[in-house]
Parts: sequence; C-alpha cells; structure tokens
Amino acid sequence: MNHLIVYAHPFEDSFNHAILENAISSLESKGHSVVVRDLYALGFNPVLCPLDFKELRSGNTPDDIETEQAYIKNADAITLIYPLWWTGMPAILKGYIDRVFAYGFAYQYTKEGTVEGLLSDKKALMITTQGTPNAYYDASGMTKSLKQTTDEGIFGFCGAKTLDHLFFGGISTSDDAMRKEMLKTVQLTLKELF
Ligand SMILES: Cc1cc2nc3c(=O)[nH]c(=O)nc-3n(C[C@H](O)[C@H](O)[C@H](O)COP(=O)(O)O)c2cc1C
Repeated sequence: MNHLIVYAHPFEDSFNHAILENAISSLESKGHSVVVRDLYALGFNPVLCPLDFKELRSGNTPDDIETEQAYIKNADAITLIYPLWWTGMPAILKGYIDRVFAYGFAYQYTKEGTVEGLLSDKKALMITTQGTPNAYYDASGMTKSLKQTTDEGIFGFCGAKTLDHLFFGGISTSDDAMRKEMLKTVQLTLKELF
C-alpha cells in the first residue's frame, strides 16, 4: 500500500519523532511504500488566506496545496502523528487540513445539499500524544470529543474510514519503559492494520 504520514512536531528529539521512526520502520518492514510530509521541516504555510479562497474558487489551486493534494491522491492510507496542544492539533496541522482538504478536492455538496466525501478510497489512522493521562480524558469525555472532531469531523466528513486513533497519555511524566511499551503498540497496531 501507499502510505502518507503527515507529521507535526517541531523537535527531532521528541517522543512524537520516535513514534514517526517506529511507524516508518514498521510499515516498510512489511513492504509498504511510505511518504512523510514533515510540516515543520517543510515550513508549511498553515494560513488559509483570502488569496487561497480566490484562487481555489477560480480553479487555480495554489502550488503548495496542489503538491500536498497530489500526495493525498497517491495514498491508500493517511496517518497523522501529532501532540495534543490545547485539546486540538498543533496549528500547523490544522492549517494543513484547512488548506489541503479543500472544497472540490476532499468534499463537495450535492444538488440535494448533502455532503459528498471525496476521499472515500482512503483509510485513516491517527496517533496523538498528550500530557494528560488517558484515564482522565476518558472519564471526562475528552477522548470521545477528540475522536469526534478528528475521526468523524475531518476524515469521516471526507468519506475516509478511520481505522484507529491511538492516544498516548501521560507522556510528560512517562519513563523509558512506558515509552518503549507505547512504541511497541505503534508497531503492533500498524502491522495488524496494514
Ligand atoms: C502548546 C501546548 C499545549 C498543550 N496542550 C495540551 C492539552 O491540551 N492536553 C494535554 O493533555 N497535553 C497538552 N500538552 C502536552 C503535550 O501534548 C505533550 O507534551 C506531548 O504530547 C508530549 O509529546 P512530545 O514529547 O513528543 O512533545 C500541550 C503542550 C504544549 C506545548
């Protein structure tokens, strides 16, 4: 399968980067082709601006958006790897979704006024790290809300099927052994899913 990993973390020594490396090696060891779009390394511009709207409406997709859309078109599976920041994606990743998952590319409205997802041939996977322990967010309903706004609100809206959303909590206070277990979960999940 062709895999696209969209990665949003500013530091190479982060736990997110360890997840990225494990995900790549796990997929490649099973013969999958993997493309990584590292948004910070690319200096991706996340601001959906008036000119973008004007160009997209007139059918002239801005070059940087077109480049990312080509990676999506070519992918069978899209994996997002990111830390939870203020109970959402880092702004650079949210802006990637704003700009790249554009009307007419990722979704459109039918004559009847319903939404038609245009990414229905894609599978999605999300891997999120967070400072708060999972048990706390599970009990407060936050985990459900996070799934609803990403799995359902973004990928589901565009017709893509979310295969899983891994939440790794308590990262800020986790030790090496706990992190190793989490990385093992990343590898096993990817091997099971693909
Ligand atoms: C700007 C910012 C906002 C954050 N907001 C949250 C949050 O809303 N909930 C949470 O559990 N952790 C939050 N955190 C903690 C990060 O999710 C955590 O440090 C990260 O997932 C650890 O992974 P890393 O070592 O790869 O950065 C935040 C961290 C930063 C820097």
